[in-house]
Amino acid sequence: MAKNKNSATPPTTLNSQPRVHQYAHEIQNYGEVLHALPLDLEDPVRLEMTERLNLLLADTMTLRDLYKKSHWQVAGPTFYQLHLLFDKHYEEQAEVVDTIAERIQLLGGVSIAMAADVAETTRIARPPRGREEVPVQISRLLDAHLIIIGHCRELAKRADELGDDGTNDLVVSDVLRPNELQVWFLSEHLVDMPLVHAVEPAARKVG
Ligand SMILES: [Fe+2]
Repeated sequence: MAKNKNSATPPTTLNSQPRVHQYAHEIQNYGEVLHALPLDLEDPVRLEMTERLNLLLADTMTLRDLYKKSHWQVAGPTFYQLHLLFDKHYEEQAEVVDTIAERIQLLGGVSIAMAADVAETTRIARPPRGREEVPVQISRLLDAHLIIIGHCRELAKRADELGDDGTNDLVVSDVLRPNELQVWFLSEHLVDMPLVHAVEPAARKVG
């Protein structure tokens, strides 16, 4: 009988051939909480926190990608500054993604990772594939931030109730605050200001 190449028995001779095309069962299912670290957090707490964090992760990955889409597709007289701003926010959101994902793993969960799974999970509306005007791009980004900010506050409150101070702090300091700051930078671009001629005091209407 031929020997199974993937046998668990260690090889007796060394071979420089890489063992490619290897497949096996998952070592942990998505949605399960395993490998409890000594964190003094009960399983139900870790389960609920990882479920909620995965929703926040899917939304943050969507917002991150929405920034890259906006970075590539932006058009018009403010192209250069928005092209740079969108990419800066993309980089910052990528950091947030990593922070949330690693918190989920630390709590014993499985972080959502791939685009198809993110698309099925996110609460942010899918944008069209084509290009949109700057005010629409910015409005879409602000709507996405609003969803994330709302869920951050709920999640932080729930983490506090359950005694998961680490998740509470992470959500407030590393997710909520950077999102609030980015909202400020975006929103100022939707203030209708003259670019060259100031409005004469007699013609000025405030409000
Ligand atoms: Fe770029």
